[in-house]
Amino acid sequence: MLSMTVLRRARITVRGLRLASGLVLLAYVSGHLLNHALGNVSLGAMEAALGWISWFWGLPGPGWALYGALAVHLALALWAIYERPRYRWTLPETLQLALGLSLPFLLAGHVTSTRLAYELFGDTRSYAQQLYLYWVAAPDVGAQQALTIVVAWTHACIGLHLWLRLKRGFATYAPLLLCVAVLVPVLSLLGFAQGGRAVAALAADEGWRLANAALPTATIQHGAELDRRESLIRWTIAAAFLLAVAARGVRRLLEGWRGLVRVTYPDGRAVRVPRGTTVLEASRIGRIAHAGVCGGKGRCSTCRVRVFGESRGPLPKPGAAEQAVLDRIGAGPQVRLACQLRPTANLQVAPLVSPHAGLRTARRVPSASGEERFVVAMFVDMRGSTRFAETHLPFDTVFVINRFLDAVAQAVQASGGVPNQFLGDGLLALFGLEAEPRIAAEQALAAVSAIGRGVAALNILMAGELAEPIRFGIGVHAGTAILGEIGGRATGRPVFTAIGDPVNVAARLQSATKRFGVEALISDAVYGAAGVAAATPPEQVTLDGREGAVAARALARAEDAAAAGSRLGTPG
Ligand code: FES
Repeated sequence: MLSMTVLRRARITVRGLRLASGLVLLAYVSGHLLNHALGNVSLGAMEAALGWISWFWGLPGPGWALYGALAVHLALALWAIYERPRYRWTLPETLQLALGLSLPFLLAGHVTSTRLAYELFGDTRSYAQQLYLYWVAAPDVGAQQALTIVVAWTHACIGLHLWLRLKRGFATYAPLLLCVAVLVPVLSLLGFAQGGRAVAALAADEGWRLANAALPTATIQHGAELDRRESLIRWTIAAAFLLAVAARGVRRLLEGWRGLVRVTYPDGRAVRVPRGTTVLEASRIGRIAHAGVCGGKGRCSTCRVRVFGESRGPLPKPGAAEQAVLDRIGAGPQVRLACQLRPTANLQVAPLVSPHAGLRTARRVPSASGEERFVVAMFVDMRGSTRFAETHLPFDTVFVINRFLDAVAQAVQASGGVPNQFLGDGLLALFGLEAEPRIAAEQALAAVSAIGRGVAALNILMAGELAEPIRFGIGVHAGTAILGEIGGRATGRPVFTAIGDPVNVAARLQSATKRFGVEALISDAVYGAAGVAAATPPEQVTLDGREGAVAARALARAEDAAAAGSRLGTPG
């Protein structure tokens, strides 16, 4: 308990430990496999590389890191068996755990005959001697070693995939990783076979065999001791595994005795579960559709819920890992990860993400559906496109509108915003999907200026083709909006967008630019969010269908948006 508290204070999470220890082990295994792969070059190359690898991992730092990582990784696998909630384990997860647990059994013989033999008795084998053992003297042991290579590598690759698949941009580098994932073990096994064949050729010579078949230091007593240690390792692992399973059973029993809590969902359905059960487990038990892309590991945030009520006592506080994810998505105080929240009292929850959410949703920050968040909304509209269409061919009209929208979208993206929807000859852009309010507002101001410059450049470029320059209007407003996937039930293609006051006001401000005869109307809420103090009184803009005026800056030239901000003050 104390150690968990210390870890939490240091912001060290189980997931972080698992990842760090896994990466150390991956580095070791990769070195081992690449060393085997050198068998495709020569036996000498294998021996030379082994010398360097043994030297490196024999250094105090890397050596302790390796043994520490091994112990931590194994302990966390047992912890997962004990602690993992009752979710449906996916095939990759099941495979990864099964392969991981089989590794100590497969490796026990290799570790005792090499590392332990060296530590206890100073026995060392050259690569050629080890290959003689595996390829000539005991091919069954060699086959087991080849299997161990495949098992260890597959285990590592699944772990890496489960970690990286939620990262943005994964789809871009996934093919490269797949090539590495396939090539390394294939080259390793081929190198192992080539080295084995080279050693078999050497072993045809009796003199070589006599000199290399048996270690001069090896004795029957040494062999017996190593066999004993090998059995001890296997039995210890088996006992630890059974202990973890038994502890899990006991935990479940105790949770049942501690009483039940009721989790209520928006449609009125309620599930009663033992205390200690997570909300996501409760959803599974109650057969309530609930997203959980990462399988309850607290990584993807797709299981998040808004908590509405507690009838007895406060909610348990989020742990470091949960808090880190909540911070990353900018969640409000009432939002929690269902897979991490273990209520101690009755409560009502509303899942915030569609139960059909997939990896794309998990990679998107913030959420895909039903989340309140501060955003800056910007409407940009091209003026006079209808008149232009009346006097030009459809092809020309589409060409000009597309050039205009390209210029606007590029300016938005370059400033850090997202072109969210194209609406005829206009565009809705959002800022703040991944940024804090102040940054979002600064990005939006920069984007207004960039649009002004971009369209001006376009007008110069197309001066010969246009009777008059392209004109436009921009409206920008900031505030809390609801983000989510809207519509698409019929088409199966919902649109991720924002709805709410910032969007409505931005659209009307854009319309009002015609009335004011300016290129942009930017509400004071945007300048305020950017931390820019107002030096001159803003315009009070009345908007259709809205009570009360909105304070906004009218800019004759959109290019002045960012400069107007800096003239007024310094971002706080
Ligand atoms: S299921 Fe992924 S964070 Fe909860």
